Amino acid sequence: MKTTFHADMMVGDIVTNLPKASDILKSYRIDFCCGGQRPLKEATAELNINTDEVIHKLNQLSLDIEERGKDEVKWEEETWSNLIDHIIHKHHSYLNNELPALTQYVTKVFRVHSSAHPELSKVHALFNQLKVELEKHALKEESEVFPAIKVFESNPTATEKLNDLIDELEDEHDAAGSILREIRSVTNDYSLPVDACMTYQITYQRLEDLESDMFAHIHLENNILFPSVVKHLKE
Ligand SMILES: [Fe+2]
Ligand SMILES: [Fe+2]
Repeated sequence: MKTTFHADMMVGDIVTNLPKASDILKSYRIDFCCGGQRPLKEATAELNINTDEVIHKLNQLSLDIEERGKDEVKWEEETWSNLIDHIIHKHHSYLNNELPALTQYVTKVFRVHSSAHPELSKVHALFNQLKVELEKHALKEESEVFPAIKVFESNPTATEKLNDLIDELEDEHDAAGSILREIRSVTNDYSLPVDACMTYQITYQRLEDLESDMFAHIHLENNILFPSVVKHLKE
């Protein structure tokens, strides 16, 4: 069901319903952490912010996320170029936005809570490793491998190099998958301690969302795009 936000909603409930709403609230300096237990209209009035503008942005974000969830295209029947464009538009742009935004949260909970919750040091280290690797990986796909696949699609001359590059990318997917598994394991499946503040909750929720998006993303590359290209390279 679509979440429709309104002025009487508690600020904390907005973020609980839609963790990414925290970015919008942060941009208006609306406190959802310690000041979460009050209606949105009260928080905006205090800061002299147009409540309708904030609500419009929240509802738009909710709609965008819902739209992104509707992915009923049979990608195995599409051209490689269409699938590549979809991967870049949906998953790489998600990473471009989410990795830097999530870094702030991971760093904040690490700084504030790692003395009481030492697993947050591990989450911090693992996340940063994942971020660096994914940024390099996505760049390699966008600048090297995807263009080569598009060239091969229009001019099917087999190249050994493309095969090797795809092998490398698949190894990198394994590496990313194992970091995500490790994060899940050190957080005990993203279990929150009883004293977890809103930032802590958002961090875990968004890490879990990152994992879901990565799984969908890797699925399109490992199970649909790459095997199809490799099959044609062998022909
Ligand atoms: Fe990718
Ligand atoms: Fe990839």
